[in-house]
Amino acid sequence: MKFVAVLCGIVVFSQCEGKQLSRCELVHQLRKNGFPENKMRDWVCLVESESSRRTDIISKPNSDGSRDYGLFQINDRYWCSTTNKPGKDCNVTCKQLVTDNISKAATCAKKIYQRHGFDAWYGWKNKCRGKPLPDISSCKK
Ligand SMILES: *[C@@H]1O[C@H](CO)[C@@H](O)[C@H](O)[C@H]1NC(C)=O
Ligand SMILES: *[C@@H]1O[C@H](CO)[C@@H](O)[C@H](O)[C@H]1NC(C)=O
Repeated sequence: MKFVAVLCGIVVFSQCEGKQLSRCELVHQLRKNGFPENKMRDWVCLVESESSRRTDIISKPNSDGSRDYGLFQINDRYWCSTTNKPGKDCNVTCKQLVTDNISKAATCAKKIYQRHGFDAWYGWKNKCRGKPLPDISSCKK
């Protein structure tokens, strides 16, 4: 949490009032946005490792100067536009990926998955692949 506070201080244009979802809130949101049940625990693991389930997180600049946005930490080099006009491969603004309504971020994440699979996310590769996945059995449908 200290890390998050520092990050919010540095990233001038981020909105730090966004929220951290509980694990079951996340599962509920993912289901609502059509994520398949048989991959649910991978998605939960991915989101937990990428953003700690925070909808509003914007990363520090990567080595190429790009940043990652929101729950799924989607990159602005390829996927979202940093201008006010929706664009790049997901046809969205990066701002639309850091709101509590995760609809746009979900659609974009699914597009990335279709193209690259879970391997598109270092968080998944490092912390989820071949590892025990989060328990979501208490999250009722
Ligand atoms: C991108 O989204 C906007 C609405 O946000 C829409 O008007 C436009 O047609 C879309 N462009 C493409 C290429 O899908
Ligand atoms: C979330 O956003 C989508 C599209 O951007 C919209 O269709 C939907 O109604 C919104 N959901 C809520 C709960 O506001």
